[in-house]
Amino acid sequence: MEEAETRQGLVRFGVSVPVTLVRAFDERIAQLGYTNRSEAIRDLMRAHLVEAEWEQAHGQVVGTVTIIYDHEKPDLSQVLTSLQHRYVHAIVCTTHVHLDAHNCMEVIVLRGRAEEIQKIASSLISARGVKHGKLVCSTTGAELA
Ligand code: NI
Repeated sequence: MEEAETRQGLVRFGVSVPVTLVRAFDERIAQLGYTNRSEAIRDLMRAHLVEAEWEQAHGQVVGTVTIIYDHEKPDLSQVLTSLQHRYVHAIVCTTHVHLDAHNCMEVIVLRGRAEEIQKIASSLISARGVKHGKLVCSTTGAELA
């Protein structure tokens, strides 16, 4: 691989890319608010490495689970609270937002082994009556430049 290291500890490298691919990429990153192609590529590289942290399943990861549900569904609030008490060692905090007269949003911040975080997220998201749920996988940042 051809590359040159700068004094700032950065590496410059040349990449051959089809014109149509780089134009489409530039258009997309401009829509996302990037003013700089290098920053967009660095973020893609980091996202790829965070994915690897989750796949390798050793060490600590962090994540957030967002769930939307109707608090009037019989037993549901109790089920969600019981789950959070069961996994209290991995739950950093929970924020509850009353969206309207019926719907609630909960954002649960998790920290622990990837495998366990995924298990906790699945049990919350799949609870009967949860309308929508999503796990966002992130990193403690310790392993990421
Ligand atoms: Ni509520």
